Amino acid sequence: MKPVILDVDTGVDDACALLLAARHPDLDLKAVTCVGGNVGIDDVVRNTLTVLEAAGRPDVPVARGAAVPLIQPVHAARHVHGEDGLGDLDWPRSTRSPDPRHAVELLRDVLRDAAATGELVTLVPLAPMTNIALLLRTYPDAARGLREIVFMGGAAGIGNATAAAEFNIWSDPGAAAIVLAAVRELEIPTTMYGLDVFHDVVVTLDQARALSGSQSAELAGQLIIKRSERYQSDGAGIGDGGAVCAVIDPAGLTTQEYPVRVELSGEWSRGRTIVDTRPAIDVAHDPRAPAATVRVATAVDGKRYAELWLATVS
Ligand code: BDR
Ligand code: CA
Repeated sequence: MKPVILDVDTGVDDACALLLAARHPDLDLKAVTCVGGNVGIDDVVRNTLTVLEAAGRPDVPVARGAAVPLIQPVHAARHVHGEDGLGDLDWPRSTRSPDPRHAVELLRDVLRDAAATGELVTLVPLAPMTNIALLLRTYPDAARGLREIVFMGGAAGIGNATAAAEFNIWSDPGAAAIVLAAVRELEIPTTMYGLDVFHDVVVTLDQARALSGSQSAELAGQLIIKRSERYQSDGAGIGDGGAVCAVIDPAGLTTQEYPVRVELSGEWSRGRTIVDTRPAIDVAHDPRAPAATVRVATAVDGKRYAELWLATVS
């Protein structure tokens, strides 16, 4: 089993990822850490506990993390995820309390244990990277417990929060820049599962309607149905779930290594991931500080990942 930690801002997309990570037999979900993003941190924590309960995994530790980005104010996306962040399904809310540790402390503890035992963890940030930046700056030794990072965020092409920037990176560009600097300094293998592939893993309405027989299946089905209704389409993407599919089945994802930077200052481009696709010789002669080298997802086998998700959540 692959040990994994998810860092989430649950969020319908994150709920799809949590259901998959909590139930897939090849993954050992060690912890889930929460950060303000799609909705405020209190809603994120409650939604995360609720989804894990539906998945039959109340044993997974969940910790509350940063409520706001490092510098700028938080901008929720309730227009995408509903007032409660979970599609306003009226799904019964968990009453479980989170772990008493701060998310950064839970990440530190799990990763230090992993470094000690050699069972290295795949960290899957699916949200603004505030917690991860705080972790890597405060306890850089914890990175020794990491096998790799597979994050949802960024885009080589167009953004969504703005024309230039994807929501997770745009929400806390400073944090993303710190994480990429740490990736370079600490040589952490990293994959960017960005908007270039994010929308390509789609479950049809018929497939969603057929999901039944367990709480996990029913929640998964309702999330897809609600999202399809919202966008008046006959199916919906599994969102952040695709990044978890990439951990389980990396062969379904096509990646290419590129230097990646985060734009921190542009009036219209702040939060954009600059994916440097120039020829290597031009990159080598760039006089500025070197960038992190990241495996950027350029294509995905959407059908294969949708089937993996459906088979697991049901
Ligand atoms: C990202 O934005 C959020 O709404 C999703 O949860 C995902 O992480 C895509 O931009
Ligand atoms: Ca998310």
